Amino acid sequence: MKSESLVSITDYSKEEILEVLESAKHFEENPNQKILEGKVVGTLFFEPSTRTRLSFETAVTRLGGRIIGFSDASTTSSTKGETLHDTIKMVSNYADLIIMRHYLDGAARYAAEVSDTPIINAGDGANQHPSQTLLDLYSIYKTQGTLEGLNITMVGDLKYGRTVHSLIMAMSHFNPTFHFVAPDELKIPDDYKKFCDSKGIKYFEHTEFSQDVINNADILYMTRVQRERFTDLMVYEKVKDVYVLKNSMLDDSKDNLRILHPLPRVNEIAYDVDANPKAYYFQQAKNGVYARQAIICKVLGIKI
Ligand code: CP
Repeated sequence: MKSESLVSITDYSKEEILEVLESAKHFEENPNQKILEGKVVGTLFFEPSTRTRLSFETAVTRLGGRIIGFSDASTTSSTKGETLHDTIKMVSNYADLIIMRHYLDGAARYAAEVSDTPIINAGDGANQHPSQTLLDLYSIYKTQGTLEGLNITMVGDLKYGRTVHSLIMAMSHFNPTFHFVAPDELKIPDDYKKFCDSKGIKYFEHTEFSQDVINNADILYMTRVQRERFTDLMVYEKVKDVYVLKNSMLDDSKDNLRILHPLPRVNEIAYDVDANPKAYYFQQAKNGVYARQAIICKVLGIKI
């Protein structure tokens, strides 16, 4: 198998997505394997992260690989003016694989073009977060027993939310019905609506986080309003607490409903939801290790 970067979830066909989910299941059953012995993985995080970086690093460690990299670009020569181009060229001299998060949309595609080793996009601006999507799909599959024909309700920052953007594209293979719940300031961009139209996928837009919408959902995908994406903080202040999911709002929800959130959360899920068996966001984050083990192997061309 060839080594190929994962920049956008659209880099993978439906079959490849299902192959990654199957591998994730294998790694959940056998997380410790010395598949990456002798390999070096660079984790370059130009933007803060807890889950993505630590779950990737856990994935590499459990597979016997070694990690180099940084979690804070202010400690690197980028502060002296070194370009992304040169940073990637340098690290691709040292590592067999680069996992990169960057605050600019398109940075991962650019890195993949200049790198001599494969790149995994760990989130680029408001654009894409494909490894999050694969762990989201794994979580949806595990909890629903299928990816087909589900009611997926996405709530919060649908404008800047890269996890939402990637998930819409991935779910398009599985005939979903989307409900997009967002204030006018954070509505899903037209490009994603056009994408749904082109694939014949049903979607409904709401500004109200109504009981009806909650009660019809199979998956409630909550998201944080991301302060760091706003140029006008007055707008952020207006919308930051627009939707808050409370436990009492789940009383008439479907038995199979699961609440997902890419995390971190701020105020959008009250702490009283955590004890509800329908809350799945911490298990979802745990699934990230297995999904990322599967992604690393696929990107490096390692057959499971
Ligand atoms: N879900 C996610 O990307 O979380 P982090 O920002 O903590 O990596």
